[in-house]
Amino acid sequence: MKDSGRPIVVLDFGAQYSKLIARRVRETHVFSLIVPFDYPLDKLRALNPAGIIFSGGPASVHADGAPMPDPGVFKLGIPILGICYGVQLFAQMLGGKVERPERREYGIAHLDTLGASGPLAGAGNLLAGVDNRTQVWMSHGDAISEVPEGFDAVAKTENCPFAAIANRAKGFYGVQFHPEVVHTPQGTRILSNFVHEICGCDSAWDMGSFVDQSIKEIREKVGNKQVICGLSGGVDSSVASVLIHEAIGDNLACVFVNNGLLRQGEPEMVQEVFRDHFHMDLHYVDAEDRFLEALAGVTEPEEKRKIIGNLFVEVFDEEAVRLGAIDFLAQGTLYPDVIESVSATGGPSVTIKSHHNVGGLPEKMNLSLLEPLRELFKDEVRAVGKALGLPDKIVMRHPFPGPGLGVRCIGAITKERLDTLRDADAIFIDEIQEAGLYGDIWQALVCLLPVRSVGVQGDERTYEEVCSLRAVTSEDAMTADWFRFPPEVLQRTASRICNEVKHINRVLFDITSKPPGTIEWE
Ligand code: XMP
Repeated sequence: MKDSGRPIVVLDFGAQYSKLIARRVRETHVFSLIVPFDYPLDKLRALNPAGIIFSGGPASVHADGAPMPDPGVFKLGIPILGICYGVQLFAQMLGGKVERPERREYGIAHLDTLGASGPLAGAGNLLAGVDNRTQVWMSHGDAISEVPEGFDAVAKTENCPFAAIANRAKGFYGVQFHPEVVHTPQGTRILSNFVHEICGCDSAWDMGSFVDQSIKEIREKVGNKQVICGLSGGVDSSVASVLIHEAIGDNLACVFVNNGLLRQGEPEMVQEVFRDHFHMDLHYVDAEDRFLEALAGVTEPEEKRKIIGNLFVEVFDEEAVRLGAIDFLAQGTLYPDVIESVSATGGPSVTIKSHHNVGGLPEKMNLSLLEPLRELFKDEVRAVGKALGLPDKIVMRHPFPGPGLGVRCIGAITKERLDTLRDADAIFIDEIQEAGLYGDIWQALVCLLPVRSVGVQGDERTYEEVCSLRAVTSEDAMTADWFRFPPEVLQRTASRICNEVKHINRVLFDITSKPPGTIEWE
């Protein structure tokens, strides 16, 4: 097994950007993980970090109960990099002064390197190779007004005399700006200097090492016990299941529920990939009739969502009980799904979005959670999937909502309308793929609208339903913009849908961004 080396551990003080730090470090081929700021010292030591990064945080170091690490962290003999709140905190803890200047600094600033820092600096310097004057992103109220003994300023900005500080003898460094965001163009260079030059990490880590390391950890955690996983055919649950299967083989049972609201060919594709190709213990539950019965006549979006969600839990639970003797519930939870919050008492609490827990199953069956992807971002999960040999048709596919076509079949849900929608959706995706645009789009979808319009086909009058095409670009689904298609792609899609799909005779194109629209219609 390839040695993935000692990790860089990020102590999380609750900043909006802290999740990006670990990711940027991983981009330099060094493994990095995030732990809460008050992580016990012995556990921290057990992680054997090559370096520690204090993240930013929303608090002021002067606030009552301001989050603080165990002071023993400074005695571990491990290099530390403080970012924003992180540097103010250690400046104060080590005897410097932090004050609130008249002006809060927020946005772009220009960093000037001082003395022999910057482009002239030798190896082992935080700013080695960084331009004399470079753009950085600032976002802080407090600022260091006096550095602790042994520290020097190595860079300043117009408003910030201690924009970067260093105590090379001790291996403690700090930056007031955010090197992890894209608005600091040389930020990755600075993080890389810390990780490689100061902490001495090599660039041995990649997604293959993540896979090896995870397999080892899953085996240690699970032993000979049994794991169940809900497999949807989406990227996250697919990658999580294949990873766990690599580790424990048939001690993993996967449950795939066909709720009748899936895309064309989905049940066949999932069975082919996971059962036939990966030889996994896949339990296919055909619950189409149950879902369609429960949804009959329901048109209100939230009611649809509740019915689909509750019934999924019911069906999944029944299958779990039928399988019996299970110890772990595996989930494809990713880092963005993990909601971090620094509670009022200063202790961070990590909770999972409720829809990621399969109902009350963990409590009811006394199951532990197994979430091997919870440190990763979506594109990293895709890279893990590729390293595991999952095909692109799974790894690169667009997100698909849990309630499936149920929230795209606007109005009443019937088998006939779902089949119509499935046909139109397949044509849209097919045309996008043919045009080589699938990878440029975050998500593409068709909605079937409960509106009929008059058309003419051959010499015949038609009176059929309308569908809308929607395709968006997005970074994280929080905001989205409509995708600018070459007109001929839309034209071909519309013409094929009207000609090939029996009950649609008119096609609209949705140009609503998010906000104010959401990506899904319901
Ligand atoms: P909206 O429609 O809120 O969607 O802009 C944002 C993203 O989330 C997906 N989505 C869901 N995913 N369960 C899921 O797993 C759901 O209930 C759900 N609803 C929306 C949506 O497809 C988009 O990618």
